[in-house]
Amino acid sequence: MILDMHDICKDYQMGKASVLHVLKHVSLTVNEGDYIAIMGPSGSGKSTLMNIIGCLDVPTSGIYNLQGNNIGKCSDNQLAELRNKYIGFVFQSFHLMPRMTALDNVALPLLFAGVRKSERRRRAAEALAIVGLEDRMNHHPDQLSGGQNQRVAIARAIVGKPKLLLADEPTGALDSSSGKQVMELFKQLHESGATIIMITHDANIASHAKTVYHIFDGVLTDAS
Ligand SMILES: Nc1ncnc2c1ncn2[C@@H]1O[C@H](COP(=O)(O)OP(=O)(O)O)[C@@H](O)[C@H]1O
Ligand SMILES: [Mg+2]
Repeated sequence: MILDMHDICKDYQMGKASVLHVLKHVSLTVNEGDYIAIMGPSGSGKSTLMNIIGCLDVPTSGIYNLQGNNIGKCSDNQLAELRNKYIGFVFQSFHLMPRMTALDNVALPLLFAGVRKSERRRRAAEALAIVGLEDRMNHHPDQLSGGQNQRVAIARAIVGKPKLLLADEPTGALDSSSGKQVMELFKQLHESGATIIMITHDANIASHAKTVYHIFDGVLTDAS
């Protein structure tokens, strides 16, 4: 098992008198090799859920276990460590460093993980080859297309061999043919053993996953 969430709620206190319930009693189990889509309209709580799964945020209540770690009992430093060790993130808008080459962007998580330089470069080049960009290693983000930048971001997400690939609207900023390439790449990663959670508002994109959950107004339901 990769992770297990039980009865997760996320509330925001809005001023003194009102509470916004953004996630309502969400339970989710993710196993090794799963390819899951979480689909819902804008404002339904997708990014909030992704942030909790990715240890970027903590729930208001409920139990979240990631690789045997009880997230509710972790300090900020421990959360950062779990993120770095277990999770690779892909965002809609890539989040690449504009002044760094593709190779340096991809190598960055390994720097944080304390991997030495020659090894960082070797592994980053390997990850770029997996996403088909071995010939773009020395390009900067502004010298690459949107689809290529997203593939650089995917290389960065997988370079540390994370337990889980978490993607929030990975094709949201791409034209349809670049979006297809990203879905093709996810399929290939899934076939080679990756565990993927993809968050999307788009039924077409969600249909690439093996399991689809729906989220509506903070309530997660099984699609089947
Ligand atoms: N920090 C916050 N404080 C208050 N409300 C928030 C905060 N973050 C998100 N929300 C609210 O939670 C709801 C879900 O947001 P979000 O998870 O970003 O939805 P989605 O990604 O599905 O579009 C929205 O109504 C949003 O306004
Ligand atoms: Mg969102």
